Amino acid sequence: MAFETINVDVDDHIALIRLNRPDALNALNTQLLKELCQALEEADANEKVRCIIVTGSDKAFAAGADIKEMSGMGFGDVFTINLFADANDRITKIRKPIIAAVSGYALGGGCELAMACDFIIAADTAKFGQPEINLGVIAGLGGTQRLTRFVGKSKSMDMNLTGRFMTAEEAERSGLVSRVVPAKKLIEEATNVAQKIAEKSMMTVMAAKEAVNRSYETTLSEGLLFERRVFHSMFATEDQKEGMTAFLEKRQAQFRDK
Ligand code: HXC
Repeated sequence: MAFETINVDVDDHIALIRLNRPDALNALNTQLLKELCQALEEADANEKVRCIIVTGSDKAFAAGADIKEMSGMGFGDVFTINLFADANDRITKIRKPIIAAVSGYALGGGCELAMACDFIIAADTAKFGQPEINLGVIAGLGGTQRLTRFVGKSKSMDMNLTGRFMTAEEAERSGLVSRVVPAKKLIEEATNVAQKIAEKSMMTVMAAKEAVNRSYETTLSEGLLFERRVFHSMFATEDQKEGMTAFLEKRQAQFRDK
């Protein structure tokens, strides 16, 4: 299907999904989120794809949910359509790794979308924020929940109650982003990282993603048990034999996802 609000480019095992509503700083509307979810699901199902990058423009990853689309809605509307809940559920079901490559504004739903990805690589121009408070609402796609887990209560309260923006440097210091790179090199750096992941055993990458995500859903002891069982199960795979043999033979492992 041809998309209107995003561009998708699959090259060398990497799906690059670019949000593309430049006139609205990539504000997330129903159509964009629908197309994004569909593109993510197609990439997840595409055997060639081993890592996904979601990005925006230089000026904006996404400046939030589309305020024009939401402004006329009442409680009955957002409750009945369960605004954006479907997108959150669909994104969290993607099994392949998703990197958010963020340049410029990642605000409100934009910050929340970045946090719903597996990790964030930020350009030094990135600005993160949950400014919903200025619109008379609160975050609705993880801004009070995921942000609090990433940066802690104090900073999350600060962001959610004042609506101030965080620089890329502060975001890295606070644990919101994994690395900061020069804006001009954002896609190059994100692609290099994606390429590194694409060289691993996809099966093992998926297992690692599942185990890390488990830590957000369960107690420490249950999470550790889950991790141990997955770790044990890896010893039933050919890729474990290949990975360890290759190390001992001082050569590059040739993983086969088996
Ligand atoms: C709709 C938006 C938009 C948004 C920007 N635009 N953000 N349209 N929804 N979230 C549009 C503007 O209306 C304008 O269109 C064009 O993009 C350029 O924006 P400007 O404001 O002129 O640019 P600038 O002066 O550079 O300011 C950039 C900005 C500002 C600081 C990012 O646009 C801004 O504050 N945007 C809103 C940020 C926000 O409040 N996000 C949270 C949304 S609520 P025109 O047609 O005038 O040129 C949310 C809830 C999520 O995300 C809950 C999910 C369930």
